[in-house]
Amino acid sequence: MPATPNPLSEMANLKSIVVSDDERPNTSFTKSALPGFKKTVNSRRAIRIFDGVSIPRKIMRDCLHDAILAPSASNLQSYEFYWIQNKAKKEKLAKLCLGQPAATTAGDLIVVVSRVDLWRSHLCKLTDIMTHNGAKPLEGAIGDYYQKIVPMLMRTDPFGLNNFVRRILFWYKSLSEPTVNGPAKRADHRVYGNIQATLAAQTLMLSLTAHGYESCPMGGIDRKAIRNLLGLPSSAEVTMVIGAGTGKPEGLFSSRIRLPYAELIKEV
Ligand SMILES: Cc1cc2nc3c(=O)[nH]c(=O)nc-3n(C[C@H](O)[C@H](O)[C@H](O)COP(=O)(O)O)c2cc1C
Repeated sequence: MPATPNPLSEMANLKSIVVSDDERPNTSFTKSALPGFKKTVNSRRAIRIFDGVSIPRKIMRDCLHDAILAPSASNLQSYEFYWIQNKAKKEKLAKLCLGQPAATTAGDLIVVVSRVDLWRSHLCKLTDIMTHNGAKPLEGAIGDYYQKIVPMLMRTDPFGLNNFVRRILFWYKSLSEPTVNGPAKRADHRVYGNIQATLAAQTLMLSLTAHGYESCPMGGIDRKAIRNLLGLPSSAEVTMVIGAGTGKPEGLFSSRIRLPYAELIKEV
């Protein structure tokens, strides 16, 4: 089988986008950004007791704006954040977080949902933005990528036919060249969506820290009941709930513990 051109490699040859110095890391950027970044990363801790006061809406919106700047596969942004405003719903949600204090005392609760099921709608919207509503159609490598490759990777059907075809295709291609192995099946799509939702969730937590607030990611939750509470379809998957607000000193349950560097990082 002849090696096929990779649109992602071809895109590297396209005319690059011109951005200002402030938008790309450079020496002066590093000097000003690094101390703040280190401080933010070091200060973010899982805080389990808050004072119950909501974060000002303007600040929370700013943090959520930061969150959606997280990277996502094919830029499909396959997630949603549900920032719970309704008091009764917030109380119900806290119960579905198994009554954890990080939920019952949080000023705000945000549900992070993987929406890989929305890939087609996100792709259409993305294409509309990139083509100025069709005025400037996608061409060449970018066109191939978004019109052929992304649908080929994401398409599903009730009988699993697309999954089967993808697995055969990946296997066949891998006989002659390095190739992606997924997403092929439903489990791969679930992982794919949760990865993106998690990156956005982490960006939200770092932004909350940089804004002077604290957070706790919660995975010990009743995902299905939370999905029902939000009226979401079974194709949506709750990735985590984030409790946020101003932490109380007693909300920090332990000093920070990490395994040795060499345990987690292999310099190969
Ligand atoms: C996916 C995920 C799920 C988590 N679930 C919970 C949870 O249900 N309850 C909780 O108190 N902390 C939860 N945590 C927080 C971790 O326990 C915490 O991040 C870890 O102990 C490290 O502490 P640090 O975040 O303060 O550095 C979760 C963290 C992650 C990333």
